[in-house]
Amino acid sequence: MMNDWLNQSRYTVVFTGAGMSTESGLPDFRSSSHGLWNKQDPSKIANTDALNNNVDAFIDFYRSRVLNVKDYKPHKGHQILADWENQGLIQSIITQNVDGFHQVAGSKHVAELHGTLQKLHCQSCGRKYSSEAYVDRDYYCECGGILRPSIVLFGETLPQQAFQTALTEAEKADLFIVLGSSLSVTPANQFPLIAKDNGAKLVIVNREPTELDKFADKVIHHRQIGDVLQEWDNAR
Ligand code: APR
Repeated sequence: MMNDWLNQSRYTVVFTGAGMSTESGLPDFRSSSHGLWNKQDPSKIANTDALNNNVDAFIDFYRSRVLNVKDYKPHKGHQILADWENQGLIQSIITQNVDGFHQVAGSKHVAELHGTLQKLHCQSCGRKYSSEAYVDRDYYCECGGILRPSIVLFGETLPQQAFQTALTEAEKADLFIVLGSSLSVTPANQFPLIAKDNGAKLVIVNREPTELDKFADKVIHHRQIGDVLQEWDNAR
């Protein structure tokens, strides 16, 4: 059935979360086993209050994430999605992930709702830096401001361009596939519903139940995303 949907769909959009990158070795946030937020309270570190009032802990946490992501790479699932885009089977990816792995694997049409760890910018003057600045220099801009990763912290607004692209893509989709997200964070978790409201079939592949399973046309739990994508690719 899934392959029929994929082959018959006119406009397929894939929506990914941190579960898309655990098979590359990166932790997700809320997996009951070893999600990042099970060890670190996000309200204490993943917001501008931490950046302004607890800067050393903020930088330690994010500098290690920025440097750590350089030691990992996309897995077969990212590669399959890039190949499918190249073959015209899927049209775009909306991702909550900040690791940049979809682009490294070759995907071109990627909306990064929560920004990227691959770039930094000065919290005071906005000057942009590559993530190498966390290697080459301490975490201050020439202007004296703090260098932070160009990701969306809790309480910050999403990048306008990525949000608008995601909205357009969700409205155009007739097949919307969620891969590896608990769908627990707004406004990102609204896009599957926007697609559904616009007549799309909604498919959710996630190891654990998500908050939107009841709206899905098909739910696949307790499976690894890489294996599911490989199976669909083999059956084409
Ligand atoms: N295959 C299938 N599902 C998986 C796999 C896998 N290999 N690995 C993890 N999962 C599932 C987990 O069961 C979990 O439900 O992926 C889901 C990931 O959910 P979260 O950890 O909540 O990540 P995500 O939904 O991307 O979080 C959204 O929250 O903290 C913010 O900004 C952060 O972008 C993030 C946002």
